[in-house]
Amino acid sequence: MKLWGGRFTKSTNQLVDEYASSINFDKKLAAYDIKGSLAHVKMLKKCGIIPENDADMITDGLHIVSEKIDNGEAVLHEEDEDIHMNVERLLTEEIGQVGGKLHTGRSRNDQVALDMRLYLRDIILEMTQLLTDVQHALFKQAETHRDTVLPGYTHLQRAQPVLFAHHMLAYVFMIERDIERLADSWKRINQMPLGAGALAGTTFPIDRDFVAGQLQFDGVCDNSLDAVSDRDFVVEFLSDGSMIAMHLSRLCEEMVQWSSAEFNFIELDDAFCTGSSMMPQKKNPDVPELVRGKTGRIYGNLTGMLTMLKGLPLAYNKDMQEDKEGMFDTAETLSGALRLFAPMIETMHVKKDSMYQAVRKDYSNATDLADYLTEKGMAFRESHEAVGKIVLHCINEGKYILDLTLEELKSFSGLIEDDIFEALSPDAVVDARKAYGGTGRNSVKQQLNKASELIKAN
Ligand code: ARG
Repeated sequence: MKLWGGRFTKSTNQLVDEYASSINFDKKLAAYDIKGSLAHVKMLKKCGIIPENDADMITDGLHIVSEKIDNGEAVLHEEDEDIHMNVERLLTEEIGQVGGKLHTGRSRNDQVALDMRLYLRDIILEMTQLLTDVQHALFKQAETHRDTVLPGYTHLQRAQPVLFAHHMLAYVFMIERDIERLADSWKRINQMPLGAGALAGTTFPIDRDFVAGQLQFDGVCDNSLDAVSDRDFVVEFLSDGSMIAMHLSRLCEEMVQWSSAEFNFIELDDAFCTGSSMMPQKKNPDVPELVRGKTGRIYGNLTGMLTMLKGLPLAYNKDMQEDKEGMFDTAETLSGALRLFAPMIETMHVKKDSMYQAVRKDYSNATDLADYLTEKGMAFRESHEAVGKIVLHCINEGKYILDLTLEELKSFSGLIEDDIFEALSPDAVVDARKAYGGTGRNSVKQQLNKASELIKAN
């Protein structure tokens, strides 16, 4: 017999039970469902909506059900559709008919919205901690490599040298914004929907603020239709999650490139790589590849959710049961990635010499030669042209700018003196970017200080 079976004369087709039930995934909300019910029954008692004795029995019963779910003793039924009805059935099995009083003044529609908000609050706290751990790991690499120079790229072509610390800090600041976004979404998630009922509110003299206080919400949802029908707070989480995944994925792509023989800039620790079943020499960067790959499903969860919602009239529609799997998947996929990230970055071996050799064998100091000529009075457009000719000459000769003699250089411009060799060294080129935010050693030192303060405050 269904909890809602009164107006039915036939039982549900078994295929419908299988197709429409959500218990296989929304059982993840069990603890939140019970937490919400405990607050709700406390309110029903306080407001005199149900007798004190009944409320106490329900409270005790909910604790027993919670224990039985935790230790695997409780059997969840597909015919009971979802976690809400399974908990109510288990409660009634425990304490008898009085269990049926729990649902007074409440609907599964406001109940499920509550459960998801409670779930996401925990996920946001967990995710913030994990992101902070990743920031720490990046920060440590940055501190260790305040002097390590590597080629900086645009269009994946060598552009200008940068400090490895500068590169690591770029991700620290990106992740900082990810954390800010999660913190900001808290304002909208942390509003309490119970009391909305099925859609129009409830006739019982409930105290919504009391429930909100019990569950540490900042306030109550202002409009019952909105409370049961919108999932914008989930969309926002999926969007924040997509941004996090996008950031991680870009770093992953770099780690994959950097650990190739072609780049040879880093070596990931053995613990984060795998081998090949056929090629004995292989050491594959599986973890960064997989994080990059899983970014696709995280975007998919966002697109799926937006699409599911876009045509729905107010208020609740069964379509909305599809809001949960993507949410769980994004939360679990991301926390899985983030857990691996901090130790993977911390143990990453940075090949400082190899990076330096790469910078020494490229034309990434060409801008600095043009700037040098410009400082000596040449118009920048002309300097650009002159240095272009020097680079072309080098390419034809199989040389780099610093391999040329002063005479050779002078043949392109009489303005070049022998101070050029110092000015074009990788370290000098880096340090010349002095303005805050640039890659110069002092600027990076300031960025390190700023990043350290931000991380501490998280
Ligand atoms: N399992 C449902 C869901 O997740 C709970 C709400 C059901 N409400 C209803 N009126 N059928 O969306």
